[in-house]
Amino acid sequence: MYLEPPEKVSQEQITLDVREIEPLLQAPPMDVPAWPGAMITLKDGRKMYIREAKLSEAPMMMEYMKKVMESDHDFYDVVGARVYAEIVGWYRKRLKDPYVLLGLIDGLWVGFANGRLQNADINISLHTMALARGGRIGAVMYYAKAYYGFEILGNKEWWATYESYNGWHRWGLGMAQPSYPWPEYQHELGGARVYYVTKKYWDTTVKQYVRQMVGADLVFDVPDEIIKANEVMHPPEEVLV
Ligand SMILES: CC(C)(COP(=O)(O)OP(=O)(O)OC[C@H]1O[C@@H](n2cnc3c(N)ncnc32)[C@H](O)[C@@H]1OP(=O)(O)O)[C@@H](O)C(=O)NCCC(=O)NCCS
Repeated sequence: MYLEPPEKVSQEQITLDVREIEPLLQAPPMDVPAWPGAMITLKDGRKMYIREAKLSEAPMMMEYMKKVMESDHDFYDVVGARVYAEIVGWYRKRLKDPYVLLGLIDGLWVGFANGRLQNADINISLHTMALARGGRIGAVMYYAKAYYGFEILGNKEWWATYESYNGWHRWGLGMAQPSYPWPEYQHELGGARVYYVTKKYWDTTVKQYVRQMVGADLVFDVPDEIIKANEVMHPPEEVLV
């Protein structure tokens, strides 16, 4: 847009360094504790380690997600495409206070969960994916990020929404989550309903969820060999879902 200046100016052109623009495009990060890493024993005895993704792993994750989003069943396409966008948004610093958790079994990437902080009180759940089916891996990944929000970050509310029947069944119904009036409240994922969990509801009820689902709790005192076995992650060779 152009308008004539209302005054004589000594320089008609001003050149900007993009480093001056970046602080306006990037949200300054809140200072929050990191996810410490936890493991859980799945029903079949396998130990899944849940750790934060490293930024350097983003390109590999994006490559794999391109393949996952080609699956046209169980909403892996829409969720895969959105997860791809969220990984690149995290990688290119275009998400406010994102967190990205990986579920790994001996380094194999089997679960994904991410979200972002709207502010110190409200945690926006973005996506959860089981990259291998049948082990309730998705159920655990979602629980882990809610645990992170309520128990580690001290959030007061959890805001989620559901694109798939499996997601709604696992957590909308599975955690008996109420929803805010719609369309007054809309989740940033496509304007769908906001389902929510309050800290009080988490404490009284939802905290039991993972024990009921897989018969075990998250363990934060993780043996060194498990941490080591999952230091380097690799996606499955092909799409397993
Ligand atoms: C939603 C989601 C994360 C849940 O993952 P999950 O908790 O590991 O559970 P699954 O969806 O794999 O399985 C659900 C049930 O169907 C069964 N199932 C479905 N497909 C299966 C398959 N291909 N092989 C084996 N079991 C399968 C599971 O055993 C499970 O049964 P259970 O309830 O007795 O445990 C997962 O379905 C997913 O990633 N979906 C695509 C992305 C998505 O929709 N994300 C949520 C957005 S709202």
